[in-house]
Amino acid sequence: KIVCIEKKCSFAKKIRVKMAKKELRQETSLNVEVIKLLNEQVAKEAHASATYLAMASWCDVNGFNKSASFFYAQAEEEREHMLKNFHFLNENGAKALSPEVTKITHEYKSLHEVFEKTLEHEISVTTSVYAIISKARQLNDFASENFLQWFVTEQLEEERQIRDILTLFDFATTKDNPLALKLIDERIPFKG
Ligand code: FEO
Repeated sequence: KIVCIEKKCSFAKKIRVKMAKKELRQETSLNVEVIKLLNEQVAKEAHASATYLAMASWCDVNGFNKSASFFYAQAEEEREHMLKNFHFLNENGAKALSPEVTKITHEYKSLHEVFEKTLEHEISVTTSVYAIISKARQLNDFASENFLQWFVTEQLEEERQIRDILTLFDFATTKDNPLALKLIDERIPFKG
């Protein structure tokens, strides 16, 4: 009978350990407020991807082939950024949400406007990355803060690239001169 009680105890202990392990597996070290912001960031990157696809289309139909290639590649990159956030959430016990993408602008007044809007877009993404880092730091969510450092470097590079392109427009005396625009398009960098 004593053996039997011991057996019962060890069985109950095993169950308790198993349950504790399960709880540990389900827990996430990410902060709930940061998770919410990261899901919003997933939506922002998806919106950026769709916006750049629309810009690629505008450049394509207006004869700016290099700019179109640039934005097709940029759209792919933004989708990768979205998935990077997405996987980070799911791999760390949170749940990533597939975003709805609405309000995409398809019409632009000029090639110059396309790149001006791109810079605005990138600055808003950078601002949002900084805001999440600031929140993560405040809430001691070091995992998210560390993860987001990659985006800090990436955003610096993206903004610099667009600023360099906008500088090309400064050399054109009139920003709607067709020949000047064609020359600018020829100088749009290839995004490999
Ligand atoms: Fe992923 Fe260019 O923002």
